[in-house]
Amino acid sequence: MTTTAETPAVDAPTLDPQQAWNDSHVGEVLDQLDRELIGLAPVKERIRNIAALLLVDGMRRRTGLTTAGPSLHMCFTGNPGTGKTTVAMRMAEILHRLGYLRKGHLVAVTRDDLVGQYIGHTAPRTREVLKRAMGGVLFIDEAYYLHRPENERDYGQEAIEILLQDMENRRNDLVVILAGYADRMDQFFRSNPGLSSRVAHHIEFPDYSAAQLNAIARLLLERMQYRLSGDAGVALAEYIELRRRQPHFANARSIRNALDRARLRQASRLCSRHQPLTREDLMTLEAGDFRASRVFAAGTSRSVA
Ligand SMILES: Nc1ncnc2c1ncn2[C@@H]1O[C@H](COP(=O)(O)OP(=O)(O)OP(=O)(O)O)[C@@H](O)[C@H]1O
Ligand SMILES: [Mg+2]
Repeated sequence: MTTTAETPAVDAPTLDPQQAWNDSHVGEVLDQLDRELIGLAPVKERIRNIAALLLVDGMRRRTGLTTAGPSLHMCFTGNPGTGKTTVAMRMAEILHRLGYLRKGHLVAVTRDDLVGQYIGHTAPRTREVLKRAMGGVLFIDEAYYLHRPENERDYGQEAIEILLQDMENRRNDLVVILAGYADRMDQFFRSNPGLSSRVAHHIEFPDYSAAQLNAIARLLLERMQYRLSGDAGVALAEYIELRRRQPHFANARSIRNALDRARLRQASRLCSRHQPLTREDLMTLEAGDFRASRVFAAGTSRSVA
């Protein structure tokens, strides 16, 4: 091993970390990530660290220092609607900007895209998906379904073996992100130590607080050019409090769905009016557009926990 302190800087100007950071334009993507995604502080922090690692790796390469190219396969765990798919797309873009991925696209799949029903069907399917994902990110949602311990002759194992080969041999051209619930993913990794040892980054996506869900709602509305009347703001906050405690709550996804339904009610309300509409009318969601939701009925009858 050479000691870094004695190695002369071959390419001095590019060793300025600020310059390298600016040149990659990754700061802009990270700032955008900060603006467009509410909360997720630990996730954002980890992405910054990975970006720094890759920049330093690039500078090491330019000065002739050894670099194996860091392994960037990842595991995203969290409940539904916590932003895993969205962050995976951003990750692909960041890794592309940092020169780690050639293309920076995302191919999102589940078990059925990789595993066939009959003998001989799995390998071509998995290889085809891998081919499409090369140069980008392969995102495998609910990855644990690849492993079916109850079924002795399950073809999922075949898909895992093929994945493992490319995760190792083509790791400079492919990043695999496995996503799903934390407990099931733990179990999956325990049964597949080969896979577990190739996943360097485990990132947890926490559930959003009520305040964060509120902020997400406002961000989504702003993007769609809608606004809330004063009363609608209050109704939405109450809606979020109630909905969070009900079954099948899916974080930001539930909020997005609630807004879609509120827009439907607004549209019906506006169409039943017999007077001309203003731009303001078209943009504004009223309290009633939220309060008509079943969530309020369930809340008052105390039928849910
Ligand atoms: N932190 C956030 N800020 C703003 N919008 C968000 C945030 N997290 C998620 N969203 C929005 O919520 C929706 C659901 O997010 P996403 O699909 O990324 O979640 P997921 O964790 O992949 O969910 P699932 O497990 O159900 O696939 C998306 O429309 C996304 O834009
Ligand atoms: Mg998803």
